[in-house]
Amino acid sequence: MTEFENRPFALQLSNVYLTILALFCFKLFVKITLNLLTYFYIIKGNRKEAARISAEFYDFGQGQSRRGVFWSELCAPHSELCVLISQGYNVDVRTIDHVTPLHEACLGDHVACARALIDAGANVNATTIDGVTPLFNACLVGSATCTEILLENGANPQTAICQPSPIHEASSKGKSACVEALITWGADVDYDIPHLGTPLFIACTSKQLHCTRKLLDKGANVQKGRFLETPLHAAAAQDCTDVVKALLEYGADVNARNLELKRPVESAPPSSLAEGFLLLYEAMPRQLSQLCRLSIRDCLGQSRLHLIPQLQLPTRLMNFLQYR
Ligand SMILES: *[C@@H]1O[C@H](CO)[C@@H](O)[C@H](O)[C@H]1NC(C)=O
Repeated sequence: MTEFENRPFALQLSNVYLTILALFCFKLFVKITLNLLTYFYIIKGNRKEAARISAEFYDFGQGQSRRGVFWSELCAPHSELCVLISQGYNVDVRTIDHVTPLHEACLGDHVACARALIDAGANVNATTIDGVTPLFNACLVGSATCTEILLENGANPQTAICQPSPIHEASSKGKSACVEALITWGADVDYDIPHLGTPLFIACTSKQLHCTRKLLDKGANVQKGRFLETPLHAAAAQDCTDVVKALLEYGADVNARNLELKRPVESAPPSSLAEGFLLLYEAMPRQLSQLCRLSIRDCLGQSRLHLIPQLQLPTRLMNFLQYR
């Protein structure tokens, strides 16, 4: 009896489920068709139509933030952004998060695209609501060319303290070409952000030997880290002997004490390579040539280190002074 009574209800229920499933399938079908259509138009070269469909699709389907995806698709090798620009598209169109096409082009390392956008007047200093600039994105992915193009066109090499900093990002990711470009265009090599420390400190925490060397070569202060924590503390704590060596070559102080009054050797993991290296280093007398080099570089001062090649010195001596 009960089975007989329940049956119509069960049937109704399954009908509801079927309807929901059918609706879902239909929605999926529409989405796929629109996507295919957009793709087809981009391939076929009808970019205006592609832009229209895509804008419609992304605006109504997934909100404005998807527009960035569309822009970066345009930077793909098979399509030309120039056509869109020549058709009068606004190069500074922004998503809800204020992401511009230039942000996307730099994030994807699309050099030609970035150049075309800048030539068309895109704002190189555009900032998202999170404070991210196109330059930051270029450093994030290590695109040295995009970094240079942006800097050549007046991008601000250094952001405010509360905003994401390109030089810190490049240092932590080991993108030394970007670091070099930033410093060349006027970024402060010792830019100290309270919660991050200096670029050198970040490079040491991230075990980035090349960036550490690049920063030191560009005159970074070897003692400046985060609060009392020096770069040598960071490198020792990471047990990164190569970075420790580089720092010591540039005159890092083995007796500096951090907030916990620990010296770098005490920050290293117990019986690690870095600890062993530092213990040995402390027990050995310094080389006179090394002490002379540090003292001469000190006398010259950070701002005049790049003038060393102009000194009337034998090449070997000059190279020695420059750690070449
Ligand atoms: C970008 O910002 C920097 C620093 O605020 C400024 O000097 C530069 O002129 C700006 N560049 C452009 C193209 O607006």
